[in-house]
Amino acid sequence: MTNTIIILDFGSQYIQLIARRIREQHVYCELIPWNAPPEKILTLNPKGIVLSGGPDSVYKPGAPQVPEYIFKTGIPILGICYGMQAMVQALGGRVKRASEPEYGFTTLETFSGNPLLPVGEQQVWMSHGDLIESIPPGFRNFSRTNNTPICGMVDPKRNYFGVQFHPEVGHTPGGAKMLRRFVIDICEASPDWTPASIIQKSVNRIREQVGQDRVLAAVSGGVDSSVATALVHKAIGNQLDAVFVDNGLLRQGEPQRVVKTFSQHLGVSFHPINAVETFLENLRGVKDPETKRRLIGERFIRIFEQEAKKLGTPPYLVQGTIYPDVVESSGTGQDQTRRIKSHHNVGGLPEDMEFKLIEPLRDLFKDEVRAVGEALGLPHEMVWRQPFPGPGLAVRCLGEITWERLERLRAADAIFTQALADAGLLHMHPNEPSASPQRGTAQAFAILLPVQAVGVMGDQRTYQDVIALRAVTTEDFMTADWARLPHSLLAQVANQIVNEVEGVNRVVYDITSKPPATIEWE
Ligand code: XMP
Repeated sequence: MTNTIIILDFGSQYIQLIARRIREQHVYCELIPWNAPPEKILTLNPKGIVLSGGPDSVYKPGAPQVPEYIFKTGIPILGICYGMQAMVQALGGRVKRASEPEYGFTTLETFSGNPLLPVGEQQVWMSHGDLIESIPPGFRNFSRTNNTPICGMVDPKRNYFGVQFHPEVGHTPGGAKMLRRFVIDICEASPDWTPASIIQKSVNRIREQVGQDRVLAAVSGGVDSSVATALVHKAIGNQLDAVFVDNGLLRQGEPQRVVKTFSQHLGVSFHPINAVETFLENLRGVKDPETKRRLIGERFIRIFEQEAKKLGTPPYLVQGTIYPDVVESSGTGQDQTRRIKSHHNVGGLPEDMEFKLIEPLRDLFKDEVRAVGEALGLPHEMVWRQPFPGPGLAVRCLGEITWERLERLRAADAIFTQALADAGLLHMHPNEPSASPQRGTAQAFAILLPVQAVGVMGDQRTYQDVIALRAVTTEDFMTADWARLPHSLLAQVANQIVNEVEGVNRVVYDITSKPPATIEWE
């Protein structure tokens, strides 16, 4: 891969955002730990290097440094925050503790004579406790804030740049443009990282890897496993067998949609397994959430093993691992030991199965996976669907799981999600203010509670089930806020559920954030 930008990772909390901003310019980039062996970077023959921010102080003993070979590559370098300070220290300038740290929004003033930022004032996001006292020979200063006299520096001869603020975060409105200038104008990287080119490269790589061998995929209906399977199918056609297990814990219409898409639309050799009875039998009488999870995972493994055997145990297995999984499991400076990631959507594949892995999405962020999925012809609603937990409705059907209770839950859930879709709220609109009823949802679903409530319908007393509705906004699913859905929508959904779903006489809306609650109820 020659048209690459390297992001040298010094442990920035925003590291994935830097990569996102560069990929948005359709330029391929990779995150590499600052202390990786030089070959790792040099063999990629990159067009430019970004030095990320990081939590350390460059002048402290043992703090991460820019390795010398980086400056011998002769390619443009941009240091961001710690990356700028590390560059200053490596090239003969000085960094010191700031008398006052600078965090949050700041007004930046930029002078002429730099190719990255327009002259004048702009808002930027700062997060630093050290500052640059003197810049190295060959550089000149091109911007400042009230607290930080040296906020931007350039050495035009070597094409070296440094900025103290964070151009990658949304709080720096001109940041994406600045990064674009760096990667496109200065590094002269071509914007060729498009869904079509990703698909083409991936197809070639899969063909080369697999040869004439057979490949197995486990499809859950989730975005990652679906796109990975469709991509492998495009590469090797009928050398691929896909297995889909209907465990009875999926949402309304989901098994039919998955089967239709893969076997009818995409022509994949598809093996739907109806294991509803086996799963329900296995879960009978079980109320504890963790036991449910364990039993579902184990059952899936047994079924998958049986199917793999029936298909002659192909040597290759498709995994829907995506780039954030890779980055999060490797971390800065640690060598990643490869192992089969527990496959969330299907509950954990057997670790002792001797498969060679095909991971066609390893380099892609979630939104790139979605763009590739659409370019491969997967239906919009499959590509853009909200996350769905591996144990499925088992963790939303609180208490004992029976077919009747699952059907009740499915019906209520379908009413809720359809109403959100009709109102354009089934996805999040991050540009809406957080308390706006129009912000939408990152995840929204119904839960069937294990309690009965008294109601009155017509002239009859009823004693029936309660449905809870959960809708949250979140970027990362680690923390979440409850969605401020319009009252009129909640009223309409509650009304429709009570009228149309037999056995339910009450609907409640969950208004707890995460933490202290979690998104799911179990
Ligand atoms: P919580 O409930 O922990 O959920 O706030 C965070 C995100 O993870 C999903 N989730 C799961 N996904 N297997 C999965 O594959 C699970 O057992 C599981 N539990 C929760 C949840 O839907 C949310 O998106």
